[in-house]
Amino acid sequence: MSRIAYVNGRYLRQHEAAVNVEDRGYQFSDGVYEVIAAERGRLIDLDRHFDRLDRSLRELRIAPPCDRAALGVVLREVLRRNRIADGIVYLQITRGVARRNHAFPASSRTALVVTAARKRPPSAAAVERGVRVITVPDIRWKRPDIKTVSLLPNVLAKQQAVEAGAEEAWFVDGEGRVTEGSSTNAWIVVGPAEVVTRPLGTDILAGVTRQTVLDAARDSNIRVVERSFTVEEAKRANEAFLTSTTSYVMPVVAIDGTPVGDGRPGPVTRLLLDAYRRRVEGRAER
Ligand code: PDD
Repeated sequence: MSRIAYVNGRYLRQHEAAVNVEDRGYQFSDGVYEVIAAERGRLIDLDRHFDRLDRSLRELRIAPPCDRAALGVVLREVLRRNRIADGIVYLQITRGVARRNHAFPASSRTALVVTAARKRPPSAAAVERGVRVITVPDIRWKRPDIKTVSLLPNVLAKQQAVEAGAEEAWFVDGEGRVTEGSSTNAWIVVGPAEVVTRPLGTDILAGVTRQTVLDAARDSNIRVVERSFTVEEAKRANEAFLTSTTSYVMPVVAIDGTPVGDGRPGPVTRLLLDAYRRRVEGRAER
């Protein structure tokens, strides 16, 4: 079966799906995106993704391509036409097509592309293996809280991780503190059961999974502190993990080659993964 993509009002076979070479997303990375997970055909945390998308668009002064209801219809239709129950939808919105000129065009139509891919939630075996992370200087621009398609530092960091035999790279700010991963938020567990993650600000993306895990932790009476932490503290932590739409709650078993705790997924991480799963199952839109 050929894959189907939505491009500016039309559902097209992927090999026919194309955007104009003067799309500002292609020319300037002048656009934003979201990745939303689907489980058994239901989109997970859709409202939170839409809230963040609206904020990203506002920050860049890009007009929304349509309202939420219409966008929801397109997302579900792309899943349906690709016969995907468990997977992800990717949506990208750019300022549209215009002759190349840095300043905003006087008029351009916001462009919308939606694709989907089959993908299972992380397996029990994957969680058991966990992931290894390396640390790299955070060389991104000063607004990574906006979910723009401009991801070059993230791409380079992830590639560096892969070449080092790791799965993720954690960005580190000028004070030696972890900001976030190249495509995930970063967490540690210290003391008996204190979960630590960096507070929201302009220096990290407000992860949808991060927020849902915070809610789940509070429901489970697990103490969470939103503060930054250094690489050294992370290496000494009892546990570490990362969160994202596609990774859920994934144990980090080594940082720069140093095992975290005993080098295996820890109990608080497992508890939070269970709590996250329960919450997602209860809250996924129907
Ligand atoms: N990445 N931080 C960064 C830099 C990210 O790119 C992402 C998401 C996250 C986690 O956000 P969320 O929980 O809302 O997925 C944190 C997506 C999945 C991606 O680029 O594929």
